[in-house]
Amino acid sequence: MTLDTSMEENPLDRDAIRAMRRSYGEAGLESLPDNPFVAFSQWLAEAASVPAIVEANAMVLSTLGDNNEISTRTVLLKDISEGGFTFFTNYSSRKARAIELNEQVTLLFPWFAMERQIAISGITEKVSAQESADYFATRPWSSQIGAWASHQSSPLSSREELEQRYAGASQKWPEGTVVPVPPHWVDIE
Ligand SMILES: Cc1cc2nc3c(=O)[nH]c(=O)nc-3n(C[C@H](O)[C@H](O)[C@H](O)COP(=O)(O)O)c2cc1C
Repeated sequence: MTLDTSMEENPLDRDAIRAMRRSYGEAGLESLPDNPFVAFSQWLAEAASVPAIVEANAMVLSTLGDNNEISTRTVLLKDISEGGFTFFTNYSSRKARAIELNEQVTLLFPWFAMERQIAISGITEKVSAQESADYFATRPWSSQIGAWASHQSSPLSSREELEQRYAGASQKWPEGTVVPVPPHWVDIE
């Protein structure tokens, strides 16, 4: 299959791409617990202990939005509970708007250094505003300010625009003060 792009020249030639190969044999498939959540937790713990895997909790989230548009991006798993996989995001983002239209999503954990991946398909549900706020409070100050500064998925007119928003939020809530949870973290604006 070929994904048609408007790229005019490929800086890597076909042979170079075909030569990208390693022989598999890293992990093998041993028996796994019957409960898929237990199996998942076991593999996540193993992935987190492999130095070559950075962000073992990073997962690729795919959504189906307006006009059957599939879109995909990385988010971080922050909890596994009651049979659910939790991530946090901006409710004004493209992904949140797509999920509003279609709650069916997929997740993919790509643990290439272990020659493993886990794909999950399911239905999304919003966590409570309290849970989002509680998690927001645990984030480092710079990430909290970043959440106020970033209008996720919206085009920026310039880098300065983002830097100014970041500086504005930093002035409003200097390091060491309590940064309130942004409204777009707890509800759709
Ligand atoms: C390693 C990594 C982790 C990320 N984790 C999150 C996350 O937990 N939540 C989030 O909203 N965006 C996260 N992002 C940013 C998203 O990938 C994405 O760029 C952003 O959410 C806007 O996506 P959208 O326009 O498809 O909604 C992460 C990006 C990377 C590279």
